[in-house]
Amino acid sequence: MLDIYTLGDDVLRGKCSEIKKFDSALRMLADAMIDTMDEADGVGLAGPQVGVQEKIFVVHIGDEKPMVFINPEIIETSIEVSPYEEGCLSIPGVYHEVIRPSRVTVQAQDLDGKAFTLKADGLLARVIQHENDHLSGILYIDHLSDDEKAAAIRSYERKNKSRLKARKRRV
Ligand code: NI
Repeated sequence: MLDIYTLGDDVLRGKCSEIKKFDSALRMLADAMIDTMDEADGVGLAGPQVGVQEKIFVVHIGDEKPMVFINPEIIETSIEVSPYEEGCLSIPGVYHEVIRPSRVTVQAQDLDGKAFTLKADGLLARVIQHENDHLSGILYIDHLSDDEKAAAIRSYERKNKSRLKARKRRV
């Protein structure tokens, strides 16, 4: 299992670099990310969340096969938007409604470097947008109003006191 970095860790706020080598190390990283996501009961996990500042995220929804997106780019979004209560493995215990486009078209590469295009709606469209944001150092709470975001951070700090104390000791 990989360690999941949480709110306050700088790695979540950086920009990710493009992946150019499609080798066995990349395959191992993707497998480890999928295992870590499944173990944490998440539906998506992006590179920065496991300390890897590279353009990769994984998605696993319900009984579908886990998916890997490398160097993704959202090339189209619907005008129609919808609300959905989002959470994030890097902000444990906090959930908030976020409004985003209902449908997206994403272009990405698979583990062999082969390009693919996917049209997504529903939860898949939601997760793709959330994970894609991570690759630019954006968290879902950044989409909230200033007041909502401040409240979400306070709630996170309240719910994760012991974890945050442990981090202070480490530093
Ligand atoms: Ni997240």
